[in-house]
Amino acid sequence: MSDTAPTVSKHARDVLDPLTDPGPAVAELDTIVGLSKRRGFIYPSSEIYGGINAVWDYGPLGVELKNNVKRAWWRAMVQERDDIVGLDSGILMAPQIWVTSGHVAEFSDPLVECADCRRRYRLDELPGTESITQADTVDPTVIDRLGLVCPADGGRLSAPRRFNLMLKTFLGPVEEEAAVVYLRPETAQGIYVNFRNVKETSRKKIPFGIAQVGKAFRNEISPGNFVFRMREFEQMEMQYFVHPDRAAEHFDEWLPRRRAWYEAYGVTPARLRTRQHAPDELAHYAKKAVDVEYRFPFGWKELEGVHNRGDWDLGRHMEASGENLEYFDPATEEHFIPWIVETSAGADRAAFTFLLDAYREEEVRGEKRVVLGLHPELAPYKVAVLPLLKKRPEIVEMCHRIKADLQRDVMAVYDDTAAIGKLYRRQDEIGTPWCVTVDVDSLEDGAVTIRDRDAMTQERVSADRVREVIADRMRAARP
Ligand code: GAP
Repeated sequence: MSDTAPTVSKHARDVLDPLTDPGPAVAELDTIVGLSKRRGFIYPSSEIYGGINAVWDYGPLGVELKNNVKRAWWRAMVQERDDIVGLDSGILMAPQIWVTSGHVAEFSDPLVECADCRRRYRLDELPGTESITQADTVDPTVIDRLGLVCPADGGRLSAPRRFNLMLKTFLGPVEEEAAVVYLRPETAQGIYVNFRNVKETSRKKIPFGIAQVGKAFRNEISPGNFVFRMREFEQMEMQYFVHPDRAAEHFDEWLPRRRAWYEAYGVTPARLRTRQHAPDELAHYAKKAVDVEYRFPFGWKELEGVHNRGDWDLGRHMEASGENLEYFDPATEEHFIPWIVETSAGADRAAFTFLLDAYREEEVRGEKRVVLGLHPELAPYKVAVLPLLKKRPEIVEMCHRIKADLQRDVMAVYDDTAAIGKLYRRQDEIGTPWCVTVDVDSLEDGAVTIRDRDAMTQERVSADRVREVIADRMRAARP
């Protein structure tokens, strides 16, 4: 794997080599932020109250896209696998879990503060920290040694201190230390503490996995880049429980498989790469970590992590809870603590990546056409049903009939608020793979036109076959 996942320090990834850089799909992030707001994919949260930093809300199209991303992940990770089952555990868990997992002690970033403006920064994201080491992040002399100043006003920065990223709240009617619980910063721990329950009820034999999709919360010091780094986000995690001797082998299977998933759903292969964490960068639980990275408009960044967590989690939970979390293999009569190979993706980051990578601008007959070339499985609407003449009630009525039929299988939409050319462009811009147009001839011959978003070809099909044709195309597109 060393050829596909070179060990690179955290900051080396930020250096773009002009000879090999594929460039981003979209040069300016604002293009996607603007489209998302304008077309109802993603809005700033609490906007009418001035917003809340690092939380974003998904609009009518965004919720479809993100649900489709999660569905596609679940299909690949649970539905089509005999060895993986699902779980939906609580966001709030016994607080001791986060002590045992190491998050209370270790899940922190180095925080520095400007003495003048009081702005706070993550030390390792400041300009001038490109070659910083883990040891530097706890060194009180690092600010002077590297000559770092506040990027906003040049003010003096404090020495770094560890800032724990977990959000806290109180459970029950008393607000006191004893009632503190954490909002989970990863969904993984819910899986580990249910390992024995799932093993016993599903009767799975090692190697087997447990998958979960759900919210996670982190009080990030420097969130940003739209939905790339948020304080409330969703994860899609799978924990694969394996024999310790086979962990490396399973790791080597999961990493390319996870990268291939993004490619199967349309992400440009050249904008994906893998990067192995340097030893001083590894999270407290990880023996080995390789990121699948994507070339975002702001550089190569983590899209998903594949981690060998060893027996860290089950071992610690076994010790702290006093419960036996070992696995017994009747074939070899061996008792052991399974090792864990984790695949950990962000649903928001994946949806963001699919949005970015699908965006293209083309010129068609002298006019600009904006297209989201989303994979049909991910597209918010699969079909738009459009009348050529909205003044003819028989045409409108036929459109509604076709749409009602389609809606039983897929998300479909009817639109008659502009001329047909404009209606097509609107659907192109939100990624609808097919438009069905009903015209005057349709009333005579019972046929309609199906227009393809990418090829812009048009095919005449009997109206009562539209649902079947779309179902066939959806099936054909499925990875
Ligand atoms: N259980 C391991 C774990 O949580 P991680 O690398 O911290 O590993 C996994 O996070 C994935 O979760 C990341 O690759 C990213 O896609 C997503 N993620 C993490 N922090 C995020 C944030 N603040 N905003 C959005 N997505 C985030």
